[in-house]
Amino acid sequence: MNRLTIRKPDDWHLHLRDGDMLKGILPETSRHFARAIIMPNLVPPVVTSADASAYRERIMAALPADDRFEPLMTLYLTEGTDPDDVEKGYKSGLVKAVKLYPAGATTNSHSGVRDLEKVMPVLERMAKIGLPLCVHGEVTTPEVDIFDREAVFIETVLDPLRKRLPDLKITMEHVTTEDGVNYIRAAERNLAGSITTHHLIINRNAILVGGIRPHYYCLPVAKREKHRLALRAAATSGDARFFLGTDSAPHADPAKECGCGCAGCFTATNTMSCLAHVFEDKGALDKLEAFVSLNGPAWYGLPVNEETVTLSKEAQPVSYPEKIETGAGPVTVFDPMFPLFWRVE
Ligand code: NCD
Ligand code: ZN
Repeated sequence: MNRLTIRKPDDWHLHLRDGDMLKGILPETSRHFARAIIMPNLVPPVVTSADASAYRERIMAALPADDRFEPLMTLYLTEGTDPDDVEKGYKSGLVKAVKLYPAGATTNSHSGVRDLEKVMPVLERMAKIGLPLCVHGEVTTPEVDIFDREAVFIETVLDPLRKRLPDLKITMEHVTTEDGVNYIRAAERNLAGSITTHHLIINRNAILVGGIRPHYYCLPVAKREKHRLALRAAATSGDARFFLGTDSAPHADPAKECGCGCAGCFTATNTMSCLAHVFEDKGALDKLEAFVSLNGPAWYGLPVNEETVTLSKEAQPVSYPEKIETGAGPVTVFDPMFPLFWRVE
């Protein structure tokens, strides 16, 4: 097969930032994707419905005139979040999910949740009205090794929370371990997982072998090869509980290439080419549409896109810019370390 037409894809986890960075990188997503769940970890974070509404307007104002793109807004859960404001945002159609960052887990997460008890009234309300919780599933306890943080989160935070609030719909975002995949597979209801492009392609060697490579550093950090293989198996299985969330997370190069580089891989530009390669490699091109275009909308209760896109396999490698130049500085595009032959027509 060297041509494939699918429903237009969506991205169920995306960082668009703000200001000049937003303007520079938004076209990289709106070129191929119809919608995306927009992460709220701005500085300061998107906490209230009013914040989300203003941010949505800034995104729409930055959109290239010819692109149609719908940002699906989220609220950043803090210990001060008001359940009534969350419900109001949801009922108005603006808010599609609430994001839980354990405080300190990743970039701009210091306003995140320290004590889950303090946000129970918000979570209870969400369970009641059917609003999904998107979770950054890592503990932040210094004693826990960074490679174990997801597995420990599942055991000590996620599983107890699901038992306490079985009606709460939870998206375990950017799953990076076999433990995460198995946990989602075993769930009877109200749990799904997003998987990034880069975690299907790299394992932890990419970050550390032959020199330290900051553009492969993201959070949750890439794990061992057996975990990557488990993610590939889940993504290409067609199981409706797994869908794409690129977690494309741009940082200007100087913020990555330094003594304490930021976490984030920027994959918006070549994600569809990378995914077609991965799915073809697994003999599962027929499952690509489920992963990028069908499973996500079903989980979030939204219609699938009417538009389609066609992917074609070229004889020669497709080239992408090494960097996207933005008003906030250059952003390095994820390099999968193999040639890409698939492109979106
Ligand atoms: C994200 C960012 O830069 O905002 N970084 C990342 O490595 N994924 C934060 C996040 O989603 O963890
Ligand atoms: Zn993210």
